[in-house]
Amino acid sequence: MKKIFKLFAILIFNLSLAFAMKQVNVGVVLPMTGPISAFGQQTWEGIKLAHQIEPTVKINGETYKINLILMDNRGDKAESANAASRLITQNNVKVILGAVASSNSIAMSTVAEKNKTPMISPSSTNPLVTKGKKYVFRVCFIDPFQGYVAAKFARNNLHAKTAVIIMDIAQDYSVGLAKSFKKAFEKMGGRVIRILPYKSGQTDFKGILTVIKYLHPDVIYVPGYYREVALIARQARQLGIKAKILSGDGAEAPELVKIGGKAVEGLYFTTHFDEKSISTKLGKEFVKKYHETYHKELNSLAALGADAYFVAVDSIKRANSLDKEKIRDAIANTKNFPGVTGNITIDKNGNAVKPAVVKKVENGEFKYVTTINP
Ligand code: PHE
Repeated sequence: MKKIFKLFAILIFNLSLAFAMKQVNVGVVLPMTGPISAFGQQTWEGIKLAHQIEPTVKINGETYKINLILMDNRGDKAESANAASRLITQNNVKVILGAVASSNSIAMSTVAEKNKTPMISPSSTNPLVTKGKKYVFRVCFIDPFQGYVAAKFARNNLHAKTAVIIMDIAQDYSVGLAKSFKKAFEKMGGRVIRILPYKSGQTDFKGILTVIKYLHPDVIYVPGYYREVALIARQARQLGIKAKILSGDGAEAPELVKIGGKAVEGLYFTTHFDEKSISTKLGKEFVKKYHETYHKELNSLAALGADAYFVAVDSIKRANSLDKEKIRDAIANTKNFPGVTGNITIDKNGNAVKPAVVKKVENGEFKYVTTINP
């Protein structure tokens, strides 16, 4: 009887706490459905877990419950801008986390900037996301660096002298990365023989690949998203093209292997993070919880999603206020925040400077190859 009473008392206490506790709304915009939904799903897993670890924030001695409001942008630019707009005007969010695809984040960033609402992208790497914007930040590196890393790896590790780039002209991410790779690869003495365009959603790459077979490059650089990268790899192998395939962070999704099968074996890609390089206390706690919850290795998207959340909460704490201007200043002043992916410092352009890792598909899994520092 006593036990039941105690349980009941705890329940009432928790309920009253939930009702009495003040709330702060944080918006999240991710591609939960559509062609790049694997990015949204993985990122959301990370953000949800980070929220479980730190569900509240203290402001002026008072505890606020953090209320995450998730909006699906379906991987679309206009949907991203609309979602940001709604979160700001209807939900009064203090920070927006998202999106993943750079083109989506660029569309959102204009809305965030106009409404003076801080936005943190976990994983959008195109420079234009933050460029010239006061309220827009990210917790990952940018593509001039990622392209340089790919070029360096192609030259030094794959010993490639020639490259062909297959570029998704519908994605700012792909166009930017193609440009950065070309610049770095040629500076290192390599030669980009040709840049061949495609568009997100395309499924037949035989035309492009026939040209590539004839050009016979040492490496094919494909800075695209997993679906198209997997299809390109499949069709390339079907045509008997043996060149090494190198991709970027956009390849990192289990779907790359599901769609690509044997054809993506040996494919290399540059990305943000590997479990083995976890150095912080928060990282260790997070990866343990992640394994217990999802029973799989921690991927870049989930880790970066968590870091966007943790940096947002830490900034609200340091701002000690719900004033968006003060939160914005606190984010901009983030220095050596010990996040899941490492120590995060936001530079004067709103970006984080971090190392990149190279991974390789081996037996259907993503194997760590090397780390390249900025
Ligand atoms: N960097 C990609 C972009 O800007 C998004 C991405 C990040 C995808 C990490 C997968 C993993 O569009």
